[in-house]
Amino acid sequence: MVNHIKIKNICCIGAGYVGGPTMAVIADHCPHINIVVIDHNKKRINAWNDENLDKLPIFEPGLKEIISRVRNRNLFFTSNTGDHIKNSDMIFISVNTPIKTKGLGAGQASNLYWVESCAREIALKGKGFTIVVEKSTLPVRTAETIKHILDNSTNSNINQVEKSFSVLSNPEFLSEGNAINDLENPDRILIGGEDNSSIKALEEIYLNWVPKSKIIHTNLWSSELSKLTANAFLAQRISSINSISALCETTGANVMEVSHAVGLDKRIGSEFLNPGPGFGGSCFKKDILNLVYICRFLGLDEVADYWESVVLINSWQQKRIYSKIVSKLYGNILNKQLTILGFTFKSNTNDTRESPAIQISYDLISEGAQLVITDPKVNPQQVRFELNRINNIQENPIEEIDKKWKFERDTYKSVKDSDAIIFLTDWEEYRHLNWEEISTLMRLPSWVFDTRNVTNKNKLAQLNLNYWKLGDC
Ligand code: NAD
Ligand code: UGA
Repeated sequence: MVNHIKIKNICCIGAGYVGGPTMAVIADHCPHINIVVIDHNKKRINAWNDENLDKLPIFEPGLKEIISRVRNRNLFFTSNTGDHIKNSDMIFISVNTPIKTKGLGAGQASNLYWVESCAREIALKGKGFTIVVEKSTLPVRTAETIKHILDNSTNSNINQVEKSFSVLSNPEFLSEGNAINDLENPDRILIGGEDNSSIKALEEIYLNWVPKSKIIHTNLWSSELSKLTANAFLAQRISSINSISALCETTGANVMEVSHAVGLDKRIGSEFLNPGPGFGGSCFKKDILNLVYICRFLGLDEVADYWESVVLINSWQQKRIYSKIVSKLYGNILNKQLTILGFTFKSNTNDTRESPAIQISYDLISEGAQLVITDPKVNPQQVRFELNRINNIQENPIEEIDKKWKFERDTYKSVKDSDAIIFLTDWEEYRHLNWEEISTLMRLPSWVFDTRNVTNKNKLAQLNLNYWKLGDC
């Protein structure tokens, strides 16, 4: 076994929300390492290589600046695998791991198709000793599968010197919109593995900017499971406070006051207790459902039910908000114009995956409303894609859905003649709107629905606007 491994060439498969920013930060701190990020999505790679940094495929504060320093210095994006796998000492697997839509475990289990494809390609093209790092979020014990594929996909006459692999788990904890800060100042770096030389090699990379005290080591399975557990705990806090928001609406308690009071207990902590339209994003739902699937598979039904309820409360919260809007608008939204402010799943990102705005907009459209959708970072094609995805084509041809919404980038134009405006994303600019102007643009009687605590009730009360904030009666 090799004693000290010095990493000179890294390859990352997957140029998405994790692969792109993570490799950019590593490249920035490790100019001595050459990094190639491969993705079979040519359009995405072209966008990563676009001279105009406003066209990067991912919007993250601070990302453009790093890319301008490292791209084509020691960070390269390509859709051509070429010899990059062969030449790499370390390969990060950073591909998508969505929920299976068909077959065994459909709707809950992770679809490992893309991870398996990577393992097969690495097995085929790898040369010498290669460290394979799981960066994607994976079901516990996936490393076993990867190792099996790596060790059993080539002819037995190839010896260990020609080709051998070690697998590490190094889950990513960044949150979108804050990715660069999270990568620069992580709460912890988790490395799960068995081979000490490989663990040390990965640790050495992080030590270029992360204090040693923040790097923790576990076995492979603890590392894989810690990632799923961390997401489940975070999402559970949101479902907990959202369930209390409903209780506030019927008791007169104020959910923001409750959240503040509860969060002051050091054992609970104040972060991640903001009520809202439910958690979105590509990961919380899929990771919890994956946990649920694993628990059920292992016969732990009570544990599965416990975690599944976090997802059920989340869907219920979205339905609840939609029903509240309809009932406040006198039980009828047919042909009323409603403006959706914010379509991303949170602020500071252009990501709309699993955004609560999708389900809420779709339900309002299905009930007959005419929507104007606005967002600072989303484009109309993305909105169409998301509405199309949840649309039941048999019931509503997509052309019918298309007639029921339009996109308007400018916030003020988007509220013109609307009966109601509905805040679904907490973009900072929504906290500083000119309400005097907005109140003159809307159709009377006008309504404001705030699910993200971005407005000031007292200010709006003076302007003849009817108002509902999440948690209010
Ligand atoms: P993503 O969909 O944005 O990116 C994945 C990329 O991998 C895609 O561009 C896809 O084309 C590419 N890809 C898939 N298979 C490939 C192959 N065989 N060869 C080349 N390219 C391939 O996904 P993401 O948001 O970056 O997430 C990646 C993983 O990281 C997931 O497991 C996710 O759960 C996890 N994660 C995501 C976040 C987040 O904030 N998005 C945070 C932590 C962890
Ligand atoms: C989340 C985790 O925070 C990351 O640690 C993790 O790495 C990542 O998932 C992942 O594995 O993909 P992310 O989904 O990017 O990150 O964003 P969050 O900030 O966690 O927000 C998720 C959702 O919860 C958003 O819709 C957000 O608006 C909502 N939220 C968050 C609330 O409704 N209330 C809160 O108090 C916090």
